[in-house]
Amino acid sequence: MAVLISERVLKPTVSVQRFDPQTDTKPRFESHAVEVAERASILDALFALQRGPIPDLAFRFSCRVGMCGSCAMVVNGREQLTCSTLVKSIGPTLKIEPLRNLPVVRDLAVDLAPFFAAYQKTLPHFTPRADLDPKEFYRLPHDRPEWKALNHQPQCIDCAACYSGCTLVTLRPRYTGPMALHRALSLIVDPRDSRREERLQLVSQEDGALRCHTLGNCHDVCPRGISPTQSIERIKRMAILAPFRRWFGRSRPSKPAANAA
Ligand code: SF4
Ligand code: FES
Repeated sequence: MAVLISERVLKPTVSVQRFDPQTDTKPRFESHAVEVAERASILDALFALQRGPIPDLAFRFSCRVGMCGSCAMVVNGREQLTCSTLVKSIGPTLKIEPLRNLPVVRDLAVDLAPFFAAYQKTLPHFTPRADLDPKEFYRLPHDRPEWKALNHQPQCIDCAACYSGCTLVTLRPRYTGPMALHRALSLIVDPRDSRREERLQLVSQEDGALRCHTLGNCHDVCPRGISPTQSIERIKRMAILAPFRRWFGRSRPSKPAANAA
């Protein structure tokens, strides 16, 4: 026997930013009431707008399950993954804007080029040590202290919420930004990598980790619970200690922090 489960309908008012850099001089907002199911996500509310009053609304999404990071936007002033955030968790009024600190392609879709360009500056590719045992290459033994430091890395989904939330990126667009520094740390502490010193120097330069004011915005907005702030603090400590390490002839990193993010 089929069982029908009735779901409450929500009628939020959704205000979205509209902007086409080809034709508009400045952004404007367009508001509409939409009907969505009680368990609808913010992304579902955007689809409702597209099906109804704003068929040409531009926004980005892909996986719809919180894995790809492409649907991040600013909702009521805070960065959110729109596919994984329920409308009812925000309230009856939603104001949706594109991510900050990035150029708008159209409406809610941004150009991520500056975000990835900053990442490229940190020497983001793994360079294995010449003496590396192939077994070690593929699997770092879990009983090694470095394992804890690496364990966080797969969580980052390149959503750019931290880049959008970072006040320093707003004030100083050349700043490397939280994601790139967080990822750099995971290579700096990887005992299989051969370019630790070079990488540490790169991310400790003028627009690198030492610029961070430790406001913690990136930590607050990261949908994966990562704390780039802690990673940056750790890079700062390593950069300050690096001359002493060189002096004493040590080249491998310190033991990982309790939260190795
Ligand atoms: S660190 Fe968090 S907020 Fe930043 S890109 Fe990765 S998942 Fe997104
Ligand atoms: S669509 Fe992939 S994380 Fe939201």
